This record gives sequence, structure tokens and C-alpha cells, in this order.
Amino acid sequence: MNDKSNNDFHRIQNRADIVEIIRSYIKLESHGKNFFGVCPFHDDHSPSMSVSPSKQIYKCFVCGASGNVFNFVENYLGVSFIEAVKIVADKVGEAFTIRESREDQRNSKYYDIMNLATLFYQNNLRTNAGKMAREYLHSRGLNDEIIKDFSIGLALPENDMLFKLLTNKKIDKKDMDALGLVADGENGTYDLFRNRIIFPLKSSTGKVNGFSGRIYNTDSQSKYVNTKETIIFKKRENLYNYHLAAPAARQEKFIVVCEGFMDAIRIYSVGIKNVIATMGTALAKEQIALLKKLNVRIIIVMDNDAAGELATVSLGQSLMKENMDIGIVRLTGKKDPDEYILTYGVEAFRDNLRNPLSYPEFMEIYLRKNRNLKNPTELTAYINDVVNMIADSNDDILIEVTINKLANEFHLDKDLLKSRLKNKELLEEVTVHEESVEKTDKEAKTTGKFNKAFKTMLYYMMNDTDAMRMFMHYHLDLPKCKYRLVSNNLLYYFELNREIDFADYLTFSEDYNEVSEVVKEVIRDVHADEFTLDDVEAVILVIKDILDKEKIKDLKREMKLELDVNRKKRLFEEIIEIKKGCVKDGRD
Ligand code: UTP
Ligand code: MN
Repeated sequence: MNDKSNNDFHRIQNRADIVEIIRSYIKLESHGKNFFGVCPFHDDHSPSMSVSPSKQIYKCFVCGASGNVFNFVENYLGVSFIEAVKIVADKVGEAFTIRESREDQRNSKYYDIMNLATLFYQNNLRTNAGKMAREYLHSRGLNDEIIKDFSIGLALPENDMLFKLLTNKKIDKKDMDALGLVADGENGTYDLFRNRIIFPLKSSTGKVNGFSGRIYNTDSQSKYVNTKETIIFKKRENLYNYHLAAPAARQEKFIVVCEGFMDAIRIYSVGIKNVIATMGTALAKEQIALLKKLNVRIIIVMDNDAAGELATVSLGQSLMKENMDIGIVRLTGKKDPDEYILTYGVEAFRDNLRNPLSYPEFMEIYLRKNRNLKNPTELTAYINDVVNMIADSNDDILIEVTINKLANEFHLDKDLLKSRLKNKELLEEVTVHEESVEKTDKEAKTTGKFNKAFKTMLYYMMNDTDAMRMFMHYHLDLPKCKYRLVSNNLLYYFELNREIDFADYLTFSEDYNEVSEVVKEVIRDVHADEFTLDDVEAVILVIKDILDKEKIKDLKREMKLELDVNRKKRLFEEIIEIKKGCVKDGRD
């Protein structure tokens, strides 16, 4: 950091009164020389945090949180240090020239372009041509204030309006490409978003980095078109409405996590501002880290359908592993929070938020579905599932409570269940251990690797039509296993529909019991919400490599036993062919 920026910080810090700044976020009361408030950095109800005007620092006696005015804003809002300085500077009316992190600076030209596009789309919505779109938004209960809060706009049906505008503004075509705003077709360059209502997607610091476009006057195309991975849009790091939700969540001490951004907008617009949307995908570890950083309770409210239920299972498990405090809400009667609130009102929704299930409670209900616990086999499976589920938790109390409940309900020996739990942990230790030792059971390892790759492949296929096509293209000679069952089922679905729709496939697979079980396993185990075709091919090549090696091993074994010299030679040639094919095959 150079001198100038140091001076900047001092200048701003001198202008800012820590009491006033902290007071703009939490309540402070004066006692003697200092001020006191309820510490927002741990769960508390008594005023354990002191703020010293003379020293310009804050300190919590319980959790030890302490620092200067910038640290407070940084931790309270969950923003970077530079961002915190900027916020304080704004509050005291000081200029701050080094306004952005280096990365944001490097990307500032891209953010500027995204802002231009946002303003353009917003303006379209206000014109005559935007009348129908405005009416659509109003009919969905979004008023002008909400439209403004979320920077909602409109892409008109014309082919290349944005392209022309940006060209006039002397923006490089390659920058437009890099941002996923335009593409090249037979008739020249065209805008990627056309005739759709535009919902800007914003980074965790509130900068527009992508768009989602919704159809509104037709039902012939896919409902949403989203910006693909770009130089500034990293899906793994984006959560819809995070920048507005984070400060509200710290105040309320919880955050609502829903699936659709229409749900998030609805929930926000009825006064619950601490809400984010996952945008219909499993969360990457970066997104989970963003939530964890808030240090508040997570209330999961997914859609009221099979996909939403599965999403709850998988998100809950990931958050429980991270030791986060979670509550589960399953709405009934309407398909998602948006419709629920419109039908039953915000108070009914708030009631749900106040009475969430714990994750184990939710899972107990979930795992019981379609099971007859009077049947010993199904009961055993159920008990194993519950034990496996809770084994991921690091919370001893949660484990104890769950195990006790299970023991009481089914008159089982607690110690037996606990030993099961231990066995599972032990089993995992052994596997990890084995992997780190050079001489291992090679076969088990190969199977493990194969299963992992195949599961990932299935996940790709469920999410992406091109992945499906690529899989077909390679004609893999797969061994019979439960995963093959799913790939065949997917191929069948694809044959019927000619494209893949994740949610629709989930519903489809539910008609096939065994398949459905494995599909759930795949969704639970694979966390790869965004991927490129290169990733897909890489996984296919891993699978193919494993299959080829297995085949070679078999042939070698056969060759060893073969006495006829000619046949021995043919086997040898076959092996050579496969070895060559490892490089060539499937890439015609
Ligand atoms: P939903 O279909 O539940 O959308 O998908 P929604 O938010 O309720 O929207 P409305 O009420 O129909 O207008 C949940 C989320 O999944 C993503 C979007 O982010 C959506 O908010 N999604 C859905 C897509 O990206 N593409 C799609 O075609 C559909
Ligand atoms: Mn909806």
C-alpha cells in the first residue's frame, strides 16, 4: 500500500466519528465516557460491546470482536476493507479516490459497460414500447419502486439495439463478447437478450455483472436466459440480492434462502429484505462461504415441489457440514414463496419463518416418505439413512438428540446406533488413509474413481443438452451398475424430449424407483453447478480411460492364459489398438 492510500484512510478515519457510524447500524447508549450496544458479531441480547469515542475503537467483552470504524463496517456488512472505507467515506462526505479493489479496478471498464447496458434496458422499460412489459410487471405486483430497487429493465425485440448503442459509444466488440452481451450469427452480430424483461444480476458488492432475461409476452421459448460465465460474472460467487440482503440479515440475525429470484423480489417487497435466491442451482462452495460469512441463521424456503425438496435436502446437508445454523421451511398450498405470499399474505409467510424445522427433523420426514417402517428391511434402510445423514454434522448435541430420538422411537440400543456412527466415521478414515498410502487396493480405488466420474457425468447430462449429446457421441462401453441405469434413463428421456430440462427430468425419473434413488444420490454428491463443455469432455475422458485400462487388464490376463500363438498375437494387437485409441477415439 502506498503513502497516498495510507493518508486517504487517515483522512477519512479522522473525519468519521466511530460512534455516529456504528449508530447508523445498531443502537448505542451512553454510559460514562463510552457507548454500549448489543454486539452484532455473536448471538447476544445484552449490551456487551463498548465503543470508545476517545480511542475511536469498538470492543466486545464477550466475543472479543474489536477494531476501528472500518473494521466494524467491514464485518457488519460483510464487505471488503476497501469497500468499507468507501462506505464510510460516502457517509462523511469525503472523497476516496482508490475506490476499488485491484481486481475491480482492472475490471472497471467491464462494469462500466454493464452499467451502460443496464441503463439502456431500464430506459426501454419506460418508453411506449415498454408498455406491455410494465403491465406484465405490475400484474405480478411489482410496483415502480421495486422495479427501481432491482434495476429491472427491458430488451426490445429488435435484433441488435444494444450492439448499436455500445458501438456508438465506441465500446470494443470484443469487450461486448467478453461480457456475453452479443453473439455472431448468419446475419451479423445480434444482442443475446431480446424481447425479454431484464433482471440485472449483481455481485456481492452490488455491481451489475450479468443479466437474466424473462419472457413475458410469449410462451414459446425457455423462460429465462442467463448470462453465461464471463470475465466478471462468476456464477459460483453470485447470489441474487446478496448485497441488499447482507446488512438486513445482520440486523435480523437470519437470512431467507429461496430458489427463484421472483421469489426473492416478492419476499423483499413485503418488507423482508434479508432474502437471497439461489437461482435454481445447487450452491458452490464460494456461495456457501458468502452465506457463512454473515454468521446468521439460514432459513431455507425452496419451492413446494420435488425439485425444491431435493434442493432442500442437498443445501441443508452442505450447510450442516459447515456447522451452520439452519432452519427448514416447507410451504404448503402454493408452488413457491411468491405465490404463497400473494395468496396467504405476508403474515402467514412470517409465521412459517418463525416455525422452521431443524434439518434432521426435515430429513426424518423426508426419509420416511414412501417407506413402510413396519417392514424390517425398509426400517433398517431408514435408520441407516438417518445415521448417515447426521454423521456429517459436527454438532455433538444435534447428533445426540437425533440418535436418542431414533433409539426411543424404535426401541433400539443407543450405543448400537452410536457405534454405527463411529463405524461410518472409521470407514471414511480408512478410505482416506488408504488413498494416502502408496500400495492400496487398486481395484476399489478405480471403482471409486469411476463412480465419482460417472456421477459427475450424470449430473452434467441432467443439466445440459450438449453434455448429453457429447456423452452419446463417445459410445462408452459402460459396465452394468446403478449409474448406467440412470444414463439409460436419461437417454430415454432425451429420445422423448430432444432436450434436457433439469426440473422436468427429476419429475420424469420419479416414475422409476431405482433410478430416482440414484438421481437423488447424484444431486446430493455432485456440486458442479457451472461447467463448460471442456469439463464435460474431461470427465468423459476420465471414464473412458478407466474403462480402457480395465479392458486392457482383462485382455492381458487372457493373453497370459492363451496357448495358441496366433490368438495370443491377436490379443496383443487388440491391446495396442486400445492404447492408441486412448488418444484418438471419439474425437473424430
Ligand atoms: P422458477 O421456475 O421457480 O422461476 O425457477 P421463478 O423465479 O419462480 O419465476 P416466475 O415466478 O416463473 O417468474 C427458479 C429459478 O431458476 C432459474 C431462475 O433463476 C429462476 O429464478 N431458472 C429457471 C433459469 O435460470 N432458467 C429457467 O428457464 C428457469
Ligand atoms: Mn415463480
